[in-house]
Amino acid sequence: MLNCAVLGATGYTGAELTRILLAHPNVRITHLTTRQEKSIPLREILPSVSRDVKLAITPYNFENVKRKADVVFLCLPHTEAMTTGDLFLKAGKVVIDLSADFRLKDPALYPKWYGVEHAFPARLKQAVYGLCEVNRSRIRKARLISNPGCYPTGPSIALMPLLGKKLIAPGSIIINAASGTSGAGKKLVPATQFCEVNENYTAYKVNKHQHIPEIEQNLSGAAGEKIKVTFIPHLLPVQRGILATIYAEPAKASVTEDSIRKVLENAYAKDPFVRIKPAGQFPSLKDVRHTNFCDVGVSMDVRTGRLVVFSAIDNLLKGASGQAVQNMNIRFGFPEGAGLI
Ligand SMILES: NC(=O)c1ccc[n+]([C@@H]2O[C@H](COP(=O)([O-])OP(=O)(O)OC[C@H]3O[C@@H](n4cnc5c(N)ncnc54)[C@H](OP(=O)(O)O)[C@@H]3O)[C@@H](O)[C@H]2O)c1
Repeated sequence: MLNCAVLGATGYTGAELTRILLAHPNVRITHLTTRQEKSIPLREILPSVSRDVKLAITPYNFENVKRKADVVFLCLPHTEAMTTGDLFLKAGKVVIDLSADFRLKDPALYPKWYGVEHAFPARLKQAVYGLCEVNRSRIRKARLISNPGCYPTGPSIALMPLLGKKLIAPGSIIINAASGTSGAGKKLVPATQFCEVNENYTAYKVNKHQHIPEIEQNLSGAAGEKIKVTFIPHLLPVQRGILATIYAEPAKASVTEDSIRKVLENAYAKDPFVRIKPAGQFPSLKDVRHTNFCDVGVSMDVRTGRLVVFSAIDNLLKGASGQAVQNMNIRFGFPEGAGLI
């Protein structure tokens, strides 16, 4: 059995990850941790667990976690995972970081988008970006896996094969994405309180969301040239799920809706968690909620010649804890869907 520790287990991604790991056939949970001073019975955070589960979330202690864990999941706020990640890497552990702290390759992007200098810039080269469908062979050998962000996951899966085959004009991409409020985490902020979110729909962090450089890094890598995108996030009055509607110009007149769909079907033919919708059908949150699937749909507006691509994921699963377990499965040679299907 693989020994796993979850740091930040009281939060949304930490609790979701714990729920998956409890049912995973190949792992044992050694530690669930909190910054708080007293232990918390897991059932207070995850009321759905069986009465037989006696686990508690305990005050974080590096030496205790180090003693037993083989793999350490960091479900901590971004900028808080850098130092902890470095410590566990030095201790010889495999680290799967759900924050953004090891996702960007260029350290100069951290002050601009996350407001801090990166404390361990050399780790950025070492980190393997855990977009499973794209980086599977590198994930198998990784010591440090940077789990992708919730917003970047769906659009990257939808667009990378199209950019790789030069089917869309790189400068033409506009991404409108809407997320459930769990995407903002459990901490209290006015914008995600019930009265602000309920019966509302609004854009936020317009043209300055911290996931912009991550999306651009992924798409630029696939296209082999520098790409800039317009990315506008919106807040939805639902608990979980992200639907992205993406607009782009075809790179040449011969590109059709069918040819785009065929490229996506071929790219993901062997991937258990990517589903390409047939013609006339489009992704929706209810189809992916509580699953690790990324659904992708395509439409060509023949009137304007514009391509529209859609992606939908559950932000807490394929956008966070589900993908983290998928990464663990790939890394340790378990069936890719273990604990997830
Ligand atoms: N929510 C999503 O959909 C989503 C998707 C992808 C990635 N992520 C990323 O995953 C990470 C966790 O997100 P989340 O949504 O689970 O956040 P969350 O619900 O706010 O939980 C974070 C947990 O980290 C602990 N924590 C808070 N501040 C800390 C600090 N300064 N130092 C150490 N521990 C601290 C807290 O636990 P204690 O107070 O008990 O210590 C808290 O429960 C973030 O980096 C986030 O950006 C989130």
